[in-house]
Amino acid sequence: MNILLTGGLGYIGSHVTVVLAEAGHHVIILDNLHNCKIEVLDRLAKILGNSPAFIQGDVRNQLLVESVLKDQKIDAVMHFAGLKAVGESVQKPLMYYENNVGGTISLLQAMKSCQVKKIVFSSSATVYGIPQYLPLDEKHPTNPESPYGQTKLQIEAILQDLARSDQSWKIIALRYFNPVGAHESGLIGEEPNGIPNNLMPYISQVASGLLPKLKIFGNDYETPDGTGVRDYIHVMDLAEGHVCALNYLYNNESEFSIMNLGTGAGYSVLELVKLYQKVSSRKITYEIAAKRAGDIAACYANADKAAVHMVWKAKRSLEKMCEDSWRWQSRG
Ligand code: NAD
Ligand code: UD1
Repeated sequence: MNILLTGGLGYIGSHVTVVLAEAGHHVIILDNLHNCKIEVLDRLAKILGNSPAFIQGDVRNQLLVESVLKDQKIDAVMHFAGLKAVGESVQKPLMYYENNVGGTISLLQAMKSCQVKKIVFSSSATVYGIPQYLPLDEKHPTNPESPYGQTKLQIEAILQDLARSDQSWKIIALRYFNPVGAHESGLIGEEPNGIPNNLMPYISQVASGLLPKLKIFGNDYETPDGTGVRDYIHVMDLAEGHVCALNYLYNNESEFSIMNLGTGAGYSVLELVKLYQKVSSRKITYEIAAKRAGDIAACYANADKAAVHMVWKAKRSLEKMCEDSWRWQSRG
C-alpha cells in the first residue's frame, strides 16, 4: 500500500517508516523539518537499502497535501506531524492549536477532497490527566493538563465527529505512553533540541558526559521507591503497533477507535537509572530535586484492547530499551 507519513522524519515516524517499508508498504514522507534533520533520510536509506519518498512541506498547506495524495495514489495516512513540548505549549498555546489542531483539519480537508479516508493518528496518554485509577484503560475519563494535551483531545473529538458524519472513514487514534529507545542499528533515534525534557534522553546525555548530572524530580511519591513511575515502551514496539493499526483499519467495521499503546508495566526513575548504568557501564550521577510542576506519581497502560483487537503486544524489555538508547547515544 502507499502510505503517507506526515512528520515521518521525526522520532516516531522514522521508526514507523522502517517497519512499514519492511512489511512491503511504499512510504511517502511529508515533513516541514521543524523538529528533525534531513540526514534522517540518508540514515533510513542505510537501513532500508533505498530512500523513502520525501516531500518537504507543511500539513497546513492543503493544496500541497492534495497533490501528494493524488500523485502518489495514497491509500492511508499516518499523522505524526505536530508539536509535542508540554512546557512550550503552555508558553505558546496558539502556536500549538494552530499547528496541531489547524494542521489536522487542513489534512482532513485534503483527504476528504481526494477520497482518502483512512488515517492513524498519534495521540497521547497525556489526554487522561491525573489518573483516577490504574492501569489506565481507554474508558478512563480524559482531562489533559496542558495545551499540548488539549490539542490531542480536540483532534480525537474532530476525528470522532468526522467518522460519525460519514461511515466510509476508518480512523484510529493511538494513545502512546512513554516511547523510548531506538532502532537497533543505532542509525536512527530521538534527537532532542537543546537540553532534553524527558527522562531517557536526559539519562543518555548524562551517561555520555554531555550533561553533568540528572535531577530526579521528587522521591516521596506514593510509589515503591518514591520516584515517578511510567510505562516506557520501546519505539520499535510502538512502530509495529502502527502496522497492526493499519491492518485493523482494513479488516474492521469500526469507523473510529481509540487504542492505548503501552506495555502495561510501570518502572520508576531509579529503576531506569540503575538499568542504564548497567547496560552503558557508565555512572549516572544524580541528585534528588524538587518535584516538577504538573507531574504525577504513576501512569501506566491497560493495553488489553490493542492486544485483543489489533493482535498487538509490546515485546521488548526495559533493558532492551536502555541498550538501544545507549547504542544510539554512543554512536560515532
Ligand atoms: P517529533 O517532533 O520527533 O516528530 C514530529 C515531526 O513532525 C517532526 O519531524 C516535525 O518536523 C514534523 N512537523 C511538525 N509540524 C509539522 C507540520 N505542520 N507540517 C509538517 N511536518 C510537521 O515527534 P515524535 O516524538 O516523533 O512524535 C510524533 C507524534 O506522536 C506527535 O504528534 C506527538 O505529539 C505524538 N506523541 C509523541 C510522544 C513522545 O513521547 N515522543 C508521546 C505521545 C504522542
Ligand atoms: C512527558 C510529557 C507527556 C508526554 C510524555 C511522552 C511532560 C509534563 N509530560 O511525560 O505529555 O506524553 O512525556 O514521553 O513533559 N524525570 C526526572 N528528571 C528529568 C526528567 C524526568 O526525574 O530530568 C522524571 C519525571 O518526574 C517522571 C519520569 O521521569 O516521573 C518521566 O518523565 P518524562 O520522560 O518527562 O515523561 P512524562 O512526564 O511521563
